[in-house]
Amino acid sequence: MNMDSFTDAFSLQGRVALVTGAAGGLGLETARWLSAHGAVVVISDVRSEVAAAAQQLRGEGLDVHSRVLDVANADAVFATVESVRAEIGSIDILVNNAGLKHNHGTAAKMEPSAWDREIAINLSGAFYCARATLPGMIERSWGRIIGVSSFVALSGLHGAPGYAASKSGLNGLTRTIALEAYRYGVTANVVCPGPIAVPGASSDPKIAERFLSRLPGGKFGEAQDVAAAITYLASDAAKFVNGIELPIDAGARLFYTGNAPKRG
Ligand SMILES: NC(=O)c1ccc[n+]([C@@H]2O[C@H](COP(=O)([O-])OP(=O)(O)OC[C@H]3O[C@@H](n4cnc5c(N)ncnc54)[C@H](O)[C@@H]3O)[C@@H](O)[C@H]2O)c1
Repeated sequence: MNMDSFTDAFSLQGRVALVTGAAGGLGLETARWLSAHGAVVVISDVRSEVAAAAQQLRGEGLDVHSRVLDVANADAVFATVESVRAEIGSIDILVNNAGLKHNHGTAAKMEPSAWDREIAINLSGAFYCARATLPGMIERSWGRIIGVSSFVALSGLHGAPGYAASKSGLNGLTRTIALEAYRYGVTANVVCPGPIAVPGASSDPKIAERFLSRLPGGKFGEAQDVAAAITYLASDAAKFVNGIELPIDAGARLFYTGNAPKRG
């Protein structure tokens, strides 16, 4: 292997990526990383601010396009994937990042409508996007499906049953795609971030303190910690990595199990 091959393995040159829920936060930073590694990136979001976000990245010299898309609307997902194919190119890399988290209360109190909404966006939305992009990936014998799950998918989260269940479901969906599609050159993996500080996010200080108290190192992660892992999973360097659930949490999940003591 010569020196070029080492770096080429991480290049995304010639690939087209779709990142959902990317008007800001982890999705936007992921788009920045994928594009900086050579991919043409389409960022989508239910919020129209996604157009300005794409413009911001273009201002940084990156090849980034935008689409307004509600991932919970299957017809809209299929139409968007088709318009990207026709105008930009077939999607090689799908990052299922769109997500909603509300603290709706315990399972004993959560409204069924709130449950339905979290499942529709976090889980069904990811399925629709995979369903719309997988046939093309299989046909071209190359593809990457990467889910942005959460470390709570591996444990559970007091007061957020819909969120925790939707993220565990996303893991199950992605593992199944991993089983079905690897033989066609497609890998499917999830990253499971712990608490990550996201620009512009307003979080309840009490909840933030609860997370911080159990976070080794006592500091939130950064969006780039997640974006870097996704960029690796999207590359040829990760061609033998399939069906994994990668925690990106400074080991926080170890402190959330059972009666684990607080950091200290
Ligand atoms: N920040 C964290 O600590 C953390 C930790 C673990 C997992 N996550 C996951 O990372 C992903 C990104 O979260 P974030 O922290 O960047 O927060 P964020 O709120 O900035 O990003 C979520 C994005 O999804 C979009 N969205 C919501 N509903 C949508 C829909 N129906 N269709 C399309 N887009 C929709 C929102 O508009 C928003 O831009 C989410 O899936 C979240 O669950 C975040």
